[in-house]
Amino acid sequence: MTDTTPINDKISLERQGQIALVRIDNPPVNASGQAVRQGLVEAVEAANADPDVKVIAIYAAGRTFVAGADIREFGKPPKAPALPDVCNQIEASAKPVISVLHGTALGGGLELGLATHARIGITGLRVGLPEILLGLLPGAGGTQRAPRLIGMANTLDMALSGRQVKAEEALAWGLIDRVETGDPRAVALAAAAEVLAGTLATRHTGDLTATRDEAALKAARAMVAKKMANVASAPLCIDAVARATGPVADGMTFERQSFMEALKTPSGKGMIHAFFAERAVAKIPEAGATPRPVAKIGVIGGGTMGSGIATAALLGGLEVRLIEVAEDVLERGRATIEKNLDGAVKRGKISEPKRDAALARLAPSTDMQTLRDVDLVIEAVFENMEVKKQIFAKLDAICKPGAVMASNTSYLNINEIASATSRPQDVLGLHFFSPAHIMRLLEVVVADKTAPEVVATGFALGKALRKIAVRAGVCDGFIGNRILAHYGKVIMYMLMDGANPDEIDAALEGFGLAMGPFKVGDLAGLDIGWAERKRRAPLRPAEERYIPIADRICEQGWFGRKTGQGWYLYDGGEIRPNPEAQAIIDEERAKAGITPRRFTPEEIVDRFLTAMISESARVVADGIAQRPIDVDAVFLFGYGFPRFRGGPLHHADQIGAAKLIARIEAYAKEDAHFWQVPPLLTTLAKTGGSFAALNTGD
Ligand code: 3HC
Repeated sequence: MTDTTPINDKISLERQGQIALVRIDNPPVNASGQAVRQGLVEAVEAANADPDVKVIAIYAAGRTFVAGADIREFGKPPKAPALPDVCNQIEASAKPVISVLHGTALGGGLELGLATHARIGITGLRVGLPEILLGLLPGAGGTQRAPRLIGMANTLDMALSGRQVKAEEALAWGLIDRVETGDPRAVALAAAAEVLAGTLATRHTGDLTATRDEAALKAARAMVAKKMANVASAPLCIDAVARATGPVADGMTFERQSFMEALKTPSGKGMIHAFFAERAVAKIPEAGATPRPVAKIGVIGGGTMGSGIATAALLGGLEVRLIEVAEDVLERGRATIEKNLDGAVKRGKISEPKRDAALARLAPSTDMQTLRDVDLVIEAVFENMEVKKQIFAKLDAICKPGAVMASNTSYLNINEIASATSRPQDVLGLHFFSPAHIMRLLEVVVADKTAPEVVATGFALGKALRKIAVRAGVCDGFIGNRILAHYGKVIMYMLMDGANPDEIDAALEGFGLAMGPFKVGDLAGLDIGWAERKRRAPLRPAEERYIPIADRICEQGWFGRKTGQGWYLYDGGEIRPNPEAQAIIDEERAKAGITPRRFTPEEIVDRFLTAMISESARVVADGIAQRPIDVDAVFLFGYGFPRFRGGPLHHADQIGAAKLIARIEAYAKEDAHFWQVPPLLTTLAKTGGSFAALNTGD
């Protein structure tokens, strides 16, 4: 006989003769929230209580099996039943329970599967223990059951990288028992019938033993000490896996305690915030608008940025028309794109045939008329308003009606650029970060007249190019570069007052920045900042303190790596501070009558962050960024801000508004023009508010 009973609104139980099918339906990703956990326990109990049922099969509706615990519940008071208990009850079921995994079985989802007595993967399945990417460790038996099935080395590989393992690899390891093709319910039914027929074996993972793998544990500890020192959960994860040789219950007690501890660590909170930041930025006022279809784009300019953008678009499957003024520069642009695509092959991102197909979609030309049928065009020429306006006026004459016209400017006024056209509603900024085919951030700059569907098109393009698109308003530098310009000054002030480039870099790398600002400058080319300072020079207020050291370095023709020297020396050996640059620094200090003083790493970090947070607060107050979390996303995905710190404004909440204000007031005694308390910070301090609360509107 057949019947289906809803256990609750997430779980239902279907009887098919001797088979009980338990269906999880909790869109979008079937996270194992409280109702799912409760429903699973009740469904398995009900199936066990039904004398006609001989086998139980768990599967999920929608695009994926359970993608993990419900991350939104983290930090809130726990609600029973806890996932480890659910898993243990499933494993203890007197009747065999099998699971059918499709899409992604991640974290708690995989742990649920490991507690069942056999696992069938559906083609295309990916499994993983990504808790580490949230600053956590598996918390529902993953560290205990996985080593029993696949050994400690493979478990540590999964749990410390967080990577998604393909079904074939999981099958070869023995993490899953089979791979089948078909719809999850049908596969569940067929597999359960095989259990009844005795052709699919079941067993309790907890009954297996795990062998201690000293070499794998040692290697994991060494790797964590070297590369993951800032993720507090990583050593706990290794400790938990090391306990898998003992009874499951004991190991799980340790694992659970460690998981709860990890939730409270700053790195746990920071990385969970980063997870939400990556997704929150897509929530924009224009989300309801229909994006215009984009298959064919034009890129004007074949320099580093233009060719990087063209590469990203080709990798995203688009057709690209690349425009340059003359054949030789055009050819250079084309060659750069080819080199970028070759690099993608080398890094294993694409296959050779895919590279060839991408190159075949590229059409270089010196004739702007070839842009007449493109859906979207991105201008990426050098930063000159007059040149850009001329280009946009031409595009206005050439492009088809409805074509989106974007500028990749890093700071120029998009409203003014749009005014050069008769269709400002179709104009926006699409600000990529170098190298554009690698960096994930894309600022979508919305001008006064940009139409909602044009904004939506910018976001859809970002998604197609696998970027993290963040909505920004028009101002000098938008979100990222405006904040950078501000904290860049404080770096120079510290340099002038006594902290040397390598000391500043070391302190900020110690905080967790991917690379210190002086190394970044040398890598990007010091001439870029020089040109930018010259542009801003007429706008500089008389009371602003100006440090000429970087200009003097550039005047020597030292632009960083590309010229062999900058702040550092690049002469083939290990990079080291440039003594000639240091001589200029010393000279400028002496000229200004400054006796250099010592800065502790802590002071360097405090001053840097306080400046960064101050301007970030202003960017939020001015509405340039929609919410604090958008600023966090910009710095996480475009400026190497450490993920385990969550972003500048998440970090600001950890410091507290009152303390930040106290710092600004103390620094203001030296320079009252630069160090001003942002009004938003004052409000937060007065009302006991936080940047986090502004994200949710609480
Ligand atoms: N909990 C709560 N919400 C989740 C979630 C989760 N585990 N996973 C995804 N979501 C939400 C997202 O926030 C997003 O919400 P939004 O639409 O409101 O922004 C929505 O589901 C869709 O997510 P994506 O946009 O990421 O969808 P994709 O299709 O691109 O990706 C995915 C799907 C690969 C499953 C991806 O969402 C993902 O990697 N999720 C996180 C997986 C994870 O980290 N699991 C481990 C959780 S910790 C755990 O299980 C602890 C356990 O050991 C006890």
